[in-house]
This record gives sequence, structure tokens and C-alpha cells, in this order.
Amino acid sequence: MRIAVFASGNGSNFTAIADAIRGEELKGATLALLFSDNAAAFVLERAKDAGVPTLQLSPQKFPSKAAFEAALLNELAEHSIELIVLAGYMRIVGPTLLAAFPNRIINLHPSLLPSFPGKSGIADAFHYGVKVTGITIHYVDSGIDTGPIIAQEVVRIESEDTLESLEAKIHQLEHRVYPAVIAEIIHKGDHQS
Ligand code: GAR
Repeated sequence: MRIAVFASGNGSNFTAIADAIRGEELKGATLALLFSDNAAAFVLERAKDAGVPTLQLSPQKFPSKAAFEAALLNELAEHSIELIVLAGYMRIVGPTLLAAFPNRIINLHPSLLPSFPGKSGIADAFHYGVKVTGITIHYVDSGIDTGPIIAQEVVRIESEDTLESLEAKIHQLEHRVYPAVIAEIIHKGDHQS
């Protein structure tokens, strides 16, 4: 299956997915495209180093979100993309893209949804003082970090944890679990509408 990863920043999860495909833990996937909405995103360097085709489009350069997503859709069709994997993509997916990829867009979020949606799920959970948090992988719908949940894993917040140590635990878990869940989705053909 030809997948596109969408990312807006660092891209450590992109690298985890690329490594899992290369190491054959994620069988049946071709990393056909890395898309970023952010021209300054480090993930673009990671993709070039990994030999993965990149696409960068800035939404601000389009007259509307629909026009931005229509241009993106054309490119996805050019690359014959079948599944969209959001990995640190900090933008709400609009109706144009959702309609074209029903049940074929998945997202990774660094909290146990529906708790702590948004851009700072790890810090929000830490500052709230919850004793357990974790990660969620879900199908994308029109909301912010909503949509049917595919998988969740728990992380305990110990009294000695700092925000930095919690971030490190969450990211480690993400790098292990997201490729495995993508492999399962591909294996089961769950992505099909
Ligand atoms: C990850 O922790 C991911 O869960 C989070 O962004 C980070 C991206 O890290 N996503 C969200 O918060 C989505 N609401 P990365 O760029 O190093 O892969």
C-alpha cells in the first residue's frame, strides 16, 4: 500500500515509520510521499536523507483551505496515495481531503483521547497532574483529535517525572507503536471504506 506521511515539524515519527519499512517490521507499505505544510520543517531534511519524495505546500499561499486541499489532492493522486498517515501534522483536515480519503486518514496524538486534544497534549496532561496519560491512534474526522479510536497505550506519570522525561517516554512509545499499528491496518485492510 502506498502511504503518504503528513508532518509539520521535527518528524521523529516519520523517521520511525521509514525505519520500520526499511527494517521490514512494517510490511506491505511503500513510503511514497512526505508532505509538509511548513517550509521550515526539519522533517523535509529527514525525508530527503531517507530518499523519500517530498512535497511542500503552504496553505497561506492559497485563496482558501479548499483550494489548498484541492492542490494537495492532485499531488496525492499523482503519487497514487492510498493511505494518509498524520504524524505531527498540526492542521485540521478539511472536508475536501476527508471526502476523498474516507477512513483512510489516521492520526497519532500524544495523550489518551478524548483527554487533552490539541497542540500540546503532553504538557497539558503533565500540568493537569494526571497520573496516567499515553498515546492514541485514531481515524480522522472533521474535529480536532476526534474520530474512531484504533489503538491506545498508557504511560504512567511518576512523581519524579519532569515534562522532559514524560515527553521522552511518550515519543519512545509512539516510535514503537505507530509503525506497528500502521502494519496492522494494512494487514487487515481496515483502511477500506
Ligand atoms: C508527536 O508527539 C505527535 O503525537 C504529536 O506531535 C508530535 C510530533 O513529533 N501530534 C499532535 O500533537 C497532534 N495533535 P514528531 O514531529 O517528532 O514526529
